[in-house]
Amino acid sequence: MKILVTGGLGYIGSHTAVALQQAGFEVLIVDNMSNSSIDVLEDIASITGETPQFKYLDLRNKEDVHHYFKTHREIDGIIHFAASKAVGESVENPLLYYENNLSTLVYLLQECAKYEIQNFIFSSSCTVYGEPDRLPITEKAPIKKATSPYGNTKQISEEIIFDTTQVSALKAIALRYFNPIGAHESVEIGELPLGVPQNLVPFITQTAIGLREQLAVFGDDYPTEDGTCIRDYIHVMDLAEAHVIALQRLLEKKNKTPFEVFNVGTGKGSSVLEVIQAFENVSQMPLNYKVVNRRPGDVTAVYADTGLANNELGWKAKRNLEESLRSAWKWEQKVKLKKKDY
Ligand code: UD1
Repeated sequence: MKILVTGGLGYIGSHTAVALQQAGFEVLIVDNMSNSSIDVLEDIASITGETPQFKYLDLRNKEDVHHYFKTHREIDGIIHFAASKAVGESVENPLLYYENNLSTLVYLLQECAKYEIQNFIFSSSCTVYGEPDRLPITEKAPIKKATSPYGNTKQISEEIIFDTTQVSALKAIALRYFNPIGAHESVEIGELPLGVPQNLVPFITQTAIGLREQLAVFGDDYPTEDGTCIRDYIHVMDLAEAHVIALQRLLEKKNKTPFEVFNVGTGKGSSVLEVIQAFENVSQMPLNYKVVNRRPGDVTAVYADTGLANNELGWKAKRNLEESLRSAWKWEQKVKLKKKDY
């Protein structure tokens, strides 16, 4: 079976490509390399022994998208990762986000209708919930007004896909990711943030390796036990495996409704200070950090109720925080060693 992975050279896309190949799928990747490198293609192959078919494609170009589908028939399903994900950047440049994340989705869904591609997995985010009223958060929790254009694109995307499934043969699953971290066990692939990392774990590993001087902990006056924010950090390979299971669910027509959503998290919340502590245990070295002011837009605490994913989807995270951080740390060391010019 041929599966198209958009954004397949990116962080989550590349790990999912590996998981798909290892589950026996043929992987086709399209990517515009706005936040990824072509080297990742061979890195995927070094794990699986198979180079995914690759085509440079910018999904904002409707004509190019059309041409791609015209010349690549027999696609059985699509896993759609290609999108922009920097919350701050989306506040600065909302139209870029609406174009990158929404027009591209529309073009893809139009091609799905044209070429009768019925299986669609979408990269969503726990950001759709905003500040939760109750924890752990279930898929039934209300969708509140998004706190950033990025978050808004995830909410609108889910609505676009839902509406499409109501009037066509399309079946779709949106996976609402919590905080993906870590790298593939082989450390052939991992996260490669462009410039200064915005996310906690790459900032921690870059500080530990000496690329950054000090980690700023954004606030310790939140109403949590140690005052720092709580998130649900999930190993990227657990997340990748959730995509394969979701895809199989659609291919085997096991979905209960044409559009389903699942939380993809561990169910366990960790504070920023707990993550730092766990990293220090794993790396056996102290981390240079300082508490600073809160970062605007951060929610206090969010972690997943994984009941639906566990019982209905049949997926459960297998790796814990330490394991995830260990792989992230190994990856940072490997990137330095290879001095990879990504
Ligand atoms: C957010 C979004 C997520 C989105 C992701 C993309 C929410 C709940 N989550 O994740 O949907 O996909 O951005 O980038 O809106 N922190 C520090 N110092 C740092 C960096 C982070 O203390 O240098 C803290 C943050 O305040 C936060 C935690 O670490 O409490 C995690 O932050 P981050 O890794 O940026 O992820 P989210 O903001 O949770």
